[in-house]
Amino acid sequence: MSASIDSTPGAVYRRLWGYTRKYWLMFAVGVAGVSLDAGMQAVFIGFVEPLIDRVFVEKDGAYGTWLAVGVMGVVLLRIIGFFAGNYGMEWTGRRVVADLRKELFNSYLQLPATFYDRNTPGQLISKLAYNSEQVAHAATKAVISAFRDILLLIYLVLLMLTTNARLTAVLLILVPVVALVVTVISRKFRKISRNIQDSMGDVAHVTEEAVIGQRVVKVFLGQETERNRFKRVNERTRRLHMRMVATHMLSSSIVQFAAGIALVTLMLVATRPSMLNEITAGTFTAIFFAMIATIPPLKRLTNVQSQMQKGIAAADSIFVVIDAEKERDSGDYAIDRVKGDVEFRNVSFQYDSSHRPVLEDISLRFPAGSVTAVVGQSGSGKTTLAGLLPRFYPYNEGSILLDGHELTDYQLSNLRRQIALVSQDVVLFNDTIAGNIAYGALADIDRQAIKRAAEAAYAMEFIEKLPEGLDTILGETGTLLSGGQRQRLAIARALLKNAPILILDEATSALDTESERAIQDALKEVMKGRTTLVIAHRLSTIENADQVIVLGEGRVIEQGTHEELLALGEAYARLYQTQFEGQ
Ligand SMILES: Nc1ncnc2c1ncn2[C@@H]1O[C@H](COP(=O)(O)OP(=O)(O)O)[C@@H](O)[C@H]1O
Ligand SMILES: [Mg+2]
Repeated sequence: MSASIDSTPGAVYRRLWGYTRKYWLMFAVGVAGVSLDAGMQAVFIGFVEPLIDRVFVEKDGAYGTWLAVGVMGVVLLRIIGFFAGNYGMEWTGRRVVADLRKELFNSYLQLPATFYDRNTPGQLISKLAYNSEQVAHAATKAVISAFRDILLLIYLVLLMLTTNARLTAVLLILVPVVALVVTVISRKFRKISRNIQDSMGDVAHVTEEAVIGQRVVKVFLGQETERNRFKRVNERTRRLHMRMVATHMLSSSIVQFAAGIALVTLMLVATRPSMLNEITAGTFTAIFFAMIATIPPLKRLTNVQSQMQKGIAAADSIFVVIDAEKERDSGDYAIDRVKGDVEFRNVSFQYDSSHRPVLEDISLRFPAGSVTAVVGQSGSGKTTLAGLLPRFYPYNEGSILLDGHELTDYQLSNLRRQIALVSQDVVLFNDTIAGNIAYGALADIDRQAIKRAAEAAYAMEFIEKLPEGLDTILGETGTLLSGGQRQRLAIARALLKNAPILILDEATSALDTESERAIQDALKEVMKGRTTLVIAHRLSTIENADQVIVLGEGRVIEQGTHEELLALGEAYARLYQTQFEGQ
């Protein structure tokens, strides 16, 4: 994913521009302010000619006083223009970027699981933090500067033309040079910018891994490896930045040189005898100053290009995500509560078309209210199978029916409302315990219900010992929990949801035998009346299941009750001997 649907700079500009339209009033204030600011700068230089010719050459002191009053007025107007211009433009730019960030974040919430398989969290965070800041910069500072400088240049040229058109013709030397620099260099800027952003993403990615994996890094003495990996991406970012700076310097120098030539030419032309008679000291000084005054905006303009290009590259990388295909949600069937009759018919699935199928020709039935235990070697496809039900991934072949309706016919949110899931790795949010149990759509549930769920999941016993009980904050800035405690909260969350379908993916793997036994009773209770898919690693769960399914390399290799399969003496019996016996 390197470019959005239409990633030409023009198209990206136009698209960003579309975000600005909403804030046209403040934008107009900004434009007016900046125009005033630039205009007054030119008027200021316009005072030079009368100051010399009339006040000093013709010795008109009274006029000098008037000019001083004029200067005061110009200064005041410039301040007003400067303030309104910057405020209006920054306000608009920041709004645009906040909108863009909001859209990007919304995309993150709606993208399919495959997207997260392809992009690392570090890269996605860097996009939100770093890339959108680049857009912010381009949309505020760079736009203000570009607009002001272009206006200023126009005013200065007008001033020179009205002062003496013939001398001003010298300026034409500058035009092709600057135009060339801007077009050639901007292309280069854009390319470097895109590389810088990618490499910032890599920096974030390497950092993320080192931080998340800090224990592994420590125990396996991986510091050197991590240092080297970081050094590489860090060094690459630095080099790219330096290339950017060098490009800057080059463009500034070329512009400066062109301006120098123009000034020299101006002096040579103006001091020729025929010209000397024609122009006054004031005219020459005014044009000379005006010309010098064009150099800073010209230099800034070529550099503004780099900021603009950074912004364009960044905006493009954000639009890529915003345009990325969201989770398919085309079904319109919705029901309050399904019975929970699930049927797989010849379902095959592969994560990636380039890989071999992870599930092949699966045909299964999970009758409403029954408990199915799924067992198999790790990597046999158990988690994948369970993940098809909430439609984390689209199945490629076959059909999955829930109460006789194809899963894809359901509204996605309606389907997911029917399913509670305790996954292998428990995710807790930076919130209170109560907030974590009553997460998302459960947020408004009453406190007694939360407490009952926590009790049923045998979580209340440790929650009660925490300083704030259910109101204890968890996560990075709060209390840290053990694996087993986290799992019990995840179970409480699933219990509270009270959904007709329950998926437990090794939900008790982190529990010690004692809490496991206790929770087993609770789980038995909640499985009642629910279609339960339990990916099991404990014998007791399997023994109590209505049916056991043995997966092997993505296929159903055995199916029956615990006793039947044990009597069969095949795959399940072997699995039983190696994994469960003695529990
Ligand atoms: N997100 C993914 N992208 C690509 N391949 C995956 C992904 N998740 C799992 N796999 C592969 O699918 C196979 C089954 O994995 P999984 O369903 O997690 O097995 P189990 O839960 O039985 O241990 C494995 O070979 C694994 O490498
Ligand atoms: Mg698994």
